[in-house]
Amino acid sequence: MSQTDETRRTFIKTAAIVGVGAALAPFPVWASAPGDDRIKVGLVGCGGRGTGAAAQALAADKGVVIWAMADAFRDRLDSSLANLLKEEGKDRVLVPADRQFVGLDAIDQLLPLVDVVLLCSTPAFRPEQLAKSVAAGKNIFCEKPVCVDSAGYRSVKESVRIAREKNLTIVSGFCWRSSSPERAIYGEILGGRMGEVVSISATYLTGPLGTRPRQAGWSDFDFQLRNWQHFAWLSGDHLVEQAVHSIDKINWAMGGRHPTKCTGIGSRFCREDVPERGDIYDNFSIIYEYENGPRCVLTTRQQANCYNNNDDWINGTKGYAWVNGWGPTHWIKDYSGKTIWQYPKDGPTPDMYQVEHDTLFKSIREHRTINEGEFMADSCLMAIMGRMSAYSGKQVTWEEASTSGESLTPKSFANPMPILKAPHPGVSPTTAA
Ligand SMILES: NC(=O)c1ccc[n+]([C@@H]2O[C@H](COP(=O)([O-])OP(=O)(O)OC[C@H]3O[C@@H](n4cnc5c(N)ncnc54)[C@H](O)[C@@H]3O)[C@@H](O)[C@H]2O)c1
Repeated sequence: MSQTDETRRTFIKTAAIVGVGAALAPFPVWASAPGDDRIKVGLVGCGGRGTGAAAQALAADKGVVIWAMADAFRDRLDSSLANLLKEEGKDRVLVPADRQFVGLDAIDQLLPLVDVVLLCSTPAFRPEQLAKSVAAGKNIFCEKPVCVDSAGYRSVKESVRIAREKNLTIVSGFCWRSSSPERAIYGEILGGRMGEVVSISATYLTGPLGTRPRQAGWSDFDFQLRNWQHFAWLSGDHLVEQAVHSIDKINWAMGGRHPTKCTGIGSRFCREDVPERGDIYDNFSIIYEYENGPRCVLTTRQQANCYNNNDDWINGTKGYAWVNGWGPTHWIKDYSGKTIWQYPKDGPTPDMYQVEHDTLFKSIREHRTINEGEFMADSCLMAIMGRMSAYSGKQVTWEEASTSGESLTPKSFANPMPILKAPHPGVSPTTAA
């Protein structure tokens, strides 16, 4: 891959800050040619999730064709394409060599050719890729997290605003929002079944993710990008990259209210000291405070051989709820212990990842715009503010997080790109600007 430099960094920062410009004329929600019933889909980021998303797009609508693919690395694109050519619907995977694009800016060549774009690459690039997709008038599936720092958050908010003006659909990759049991229980909670929510205790406890040890010929940048989950500038740290799912469920239960401030702790305790384990922490605990009293706590870790769990205990003024993210249990009880609501044992449990794409393509076919941009951006900022607080050891307000000058993008992508030391609470600044 070609090396990039200060110019590229300036470009990313500028794109992040100014958003996508001022072309605000209304667009049709589906821009395909008259008489052509196909919906041409472009995949950006041909990794595990992107390949899955493309397969789900094929299954969602018989008119979907995978029309173009883009990735930073040739081998990732090749293996994704080979996998898609084994999927149900493989006859609709129509990606000849001249619609395969490789490089950090490969999205630029893909966008003019497609109706819908699936944004599934490394999170650091999402704000820029979302801005470009909205500027090009595309309907969008946007994986989480959508940003890794404050500058990215502001860019995403601006893109979401412009997408609304253009009638573009944005379906978010916060997949639990597409899960039937979760939709049912959060519907009950928001409908007042257990009174006002006063506190939440959420966990995302899991093991460490895999690594890709360095290979000959990789630049420092290639090495970090191949191991992106382990580098805060690329992933936002595992709080932003993974536990953000649980943070999004807190945001959901709180009706999208912004926490006023948070107090976070975290550390890097168990990760091996090898380059591919990057600079991120392996545990965080964040207390989010809301106006008039509610407090929500998120605890997460990526440590081997420990108890794993992913659930949410939600306390209201009239009862409490258990939402089991990895299991079938979703109920609400009153404080006498009586079950006052539960998801039926035989209730539908369609694959939430498939539902995301069913929703996206139905919205396009029916010309009914869906824009999930607000919660998709705000949940990510909640995670970012938690990281800022844990890294610095300071309390961080919503106002500080959303207006901060923080940008995690390195000064240059050229060799050498040193691996940073994990931040030291009480010593490291609140922002990495
Ligand atoms: N919703 C979920 O449950 C879920 C599950 C897994 C992953 N994800 C998210 O999906 C995204 C991708 O994760 P993954 O597991 O597929 O990772 P992955 O490493 O398998 O794939 C990411 C791909 O993006 C490519 N890429 C990097 N920069 C790019 C650029 N500028 N342009 C084009 N391609 C680029 C990489 O080369 C890689 O092939 C992440 O944001 C992750 O958090 C979501």
